[in-house]
Amino acid sequence: MNRALALNPQAVEAPASQDALLEVSNLTLRRGKAVVLDGVSLALHSGETLGLIGESGAGKSTLAMALIGLLRAPEVQLEGSMRFRGTELVTLREADYRRLRGNKIGLIFQDATAALNPCFTVGEQIAEPLKRHLGLSKWDRRERAAELMHSVGIPEPALRLDAYPHELSGGMQQRVMIAIALACNPELLLADEPTSALDVTIQAQIMELILDRVRALNSSAVFVLHDLALGAQVCDRIAVMYAGQIVEEGPSERVLAAPLHPYTQGLKSCVVELGSSTLVPIRGQIPPLNAMPAGCRFAPRCPRAQAICGEQRPVAETRDGRQVACWFID
Ligand SMILES: Nc1ncnc2c1ncn2[C@@H]1O[C@H](COP(=O)(O)OP(=O)(O)OP(=O)(O)O)[C@@H](O)[C@H]1O
Ligand SMILES: [Mg+2]
Repeated sequence: MNRALALNPQAVEAPASQDALLEVSNLTLRRGKAVVLDGVSLALHSGETLGLIGESGAGKSTLAMALIGLLRAPEVQLEGSMRFRGTELVTLREADYRRLRGNKIGLIFQDATAALNPCFTVGEQIAEPLKRHLGLSKWDRRERAAELMHSVGIPEPALRLDAYPHELSGGMQQRVMIAIALACNPELLLADEPTSALDVTIQAQIMELILDRVRALNSSAVFVLHDLALGAQVCDRIAVMYAGQIVEEGPSERVLAAPLHPYTQGLKSCVVELGSSTLVPIRGQIPPLNAMPAGCRFAPRCPRAQAICGEQRPVAETRDGRQVACWFID
């Protein structure tokens, strides 16, 4: 990917801050008094894929939901900034969000069975964004829906257009959801654990399919994943999340080959040692939202923690081409 301004006609007119497709800065999300996302910053450029990795409860889905505008006031309180192509999303009106969602920004959830509407055929559900955002005629929608089904590997799409979700297998339903998410050629795809509800045998296939489609459309994508090794394998960049904060962010190879944050190192040792059948888990668990440590949120579990870690939150600094938030970077 070439990000040089001179080679990118769209970027020539855009101010420098619009260079990133998605720019999250210092985003904080509160549920009442609980700080669920705490000062999250990241940037994603056109054509890039980012893996958001972390244990259960880290805040990965919360971030994805906030990005797509499904977590907003008064349910939660948002501070900071999320810019998509330079447009501020934190203060975006719902009517404008509706124009982005399912159009410029696509979303794939973990569980297709829950996400698809059992009362409508899959053809109708794939056609819905084509009608709403692109205004295609009924005939064109049907034709395009069949094309989309074909592109996500659903055999005999013309016959399956009129099937209801329950008539399809879990893997086929997930393919339908991918077709819906990609129907309007989104610039950004958010995929929240897109394969974890599926049989292990087809997980890799579906992941490969999503990546394939994302590349074909030259879209950017954020993949929410549990697994650091998988994330590094499929994404250009990795952001490691812990207790609502990003603790390390950078190019996948570097983050996986030589993690700098003790939490990332812990995640990696789980992966590597699993291969040699000795699992080294990170001791303890993420603190509850109502009892977050005042300093570094990882300090109570960190083998490297010193007095300052319990008192002051580390500020992310650039080290070896990535951002790391730790008082004692290796
Ligand atoms: N609807 C909700 N109401 C209250 N708290 C919530 C709600 N959803 C999530 N949380 C809390 O917010 C925090 C972040 O949860 P989130 O679901 O974003 O984590 P996650 O990283 O996606 O985890 P997982 O890997 O299990 O999906 C957790 O402490 C969780 O308990
Ligand atoms: Mg989640």
